[in-house]
Amino acid sequence: MTQLFINASEVVTCAGPARARRGAEQGDAGVRQGVGIAVGADGRIVAVAPDAELRAAHPAATLVDCAQGVLTPGFVDSHTHAIFGRARYEEQEMRAAGVGYLEIAKRGGGIHSSVRDLRTRSADELAALAAERMRRIAAHGTTTLEVKSGYGLSLESELTTLRVIRRLAAEVPLRLVPTFLGAHEVPLDHREAPRTREDYIALVTEEMIPVVAREGLARFCDVFCEPGVYTTDETRRILTAARGAGMGLKLHADELENGAAAELAAELGATSADHLAAVSELGIAALAAAGTVATLLPGTMLFLGRPRQAPARALVQAGVAVALASDFNPGTSPTVNFPLVLTLGVSQLRLSVGEAFIAATVNGAAALGLAGELGQLSPGFQADLALFGVRDHREIPYWYGDQRCRRTWVGGRAAHGA
Ligand code: NIG
Ligand code: FE
Repeated sequence: MTQLFINASEVVTCAGPARARRGAEQGDAGVRQGVGIAVGADGRIVAVAPDAELRAAHPAATLVDCAQGVLTPGFVDSHTHAIFGRARYEEQEMRAAGVGYLEIAKRGGGIHSSVRDLRTRSADELAALAAERMRRIAAHGTTTLEVKSGYGLSLESELTTLRVIRRLAAEVPLRLVPTFLGAHEVPLDHREAPRTREDYIALVTEEMIPVVAREGLARFCDVFCEPGVYTTDETRRILTAARGAGMGLKLHADELENGAAAELAAELGATSADHLAAVSELGIAALAAAGTVATLLPGTMLFLGRPRQAPARALVQAGVAVALASDFNPGTSPTVNFPLVLTLGVSQLRLSVGEAFIAATVNGAAALGLAGELGQLSPGFQADLALFGVRDHREIPYWYGDQRCRRTWVGGRAAHGA
């Protein structure tokens, strides 16, 4: 059955080439007035045209009244760590009192605290906790969510996490894209003989990656490449093994301190380099030359209380495609609110509203290798839609922290707010 989405005050189409948008292209979100969207029975967009034309062409279609709201592509959140157990609110106060993020980790907190917790939980428990959080994410307009493992850090617990993601894909109102992040930290049980960090890297490259690949549990492999966590040499070894096993590559790169991780992302031809608050000029040039998407996570720097955000303007000017993502995780960015990330994109990263929308849709899809399928409202693309109760698309980043998303659809099927 064809559906017509009509009576929208604006449609943010993000229409254009089916690939990452760079430079001036990134600023054009294709905002149109007086148009609606026709969606076919296969869940793909058939046409974007004036309402009257759509109604004449599809007289038997089901009508969806957008009630003068703003229709956008569903947000593509290309970086989250959504499978975890307990929240880590105690660390927020510790940081306020002056204990840094990596210092908390050194004391056995941070990621280690989530690892200890996750290992005590059953797959059912983890799935129930994540499903509830994912429904809240969906309620803010996200329709595609990348989800990383990385709080297991053992063969068994990493596989449990990835299997939970696979199972949730059938249960939650989102498309899920799984990423293997076995190298999120060096686990505390691999810090000295008889089990060393070298042994852990061997476990990741020789045992975990082959099983994850064989079971088809992850589309990407990621590494936390950061001074004090994984070195660039270790990251190169791990990601080379992952590439050999057929996975796409991502890096947590230059998040807190510069370690030339963006340069490594470019060298390896990674799909995305993420965070980049401490990227250098050389790193920016390398990303531009390699066509690696820069995924910026301004919520993380906000929540950590760090003064320095990623140099988004310099990235756009250098011709790097910029994506925005939430980094949803219990340590550094516990927000389910993607429109808030748009707010930070404009107010902290100094993106234009158009640039922020492209970053949240087309370029998010490109960061997942999905720009040919998702992220824009054009014929042939998936009908992944979000409807907001505002008149002007600029109100979406403007009413910061608010919840203006009314409904979402994934592949034309009602996902949230039906
Ligand atoms: O993207 N930097 C590493 N990973 C996460 C934080 C994970 C955590 O603290 O639990 C991030 O910020
Ligand atoms: Fe992250």
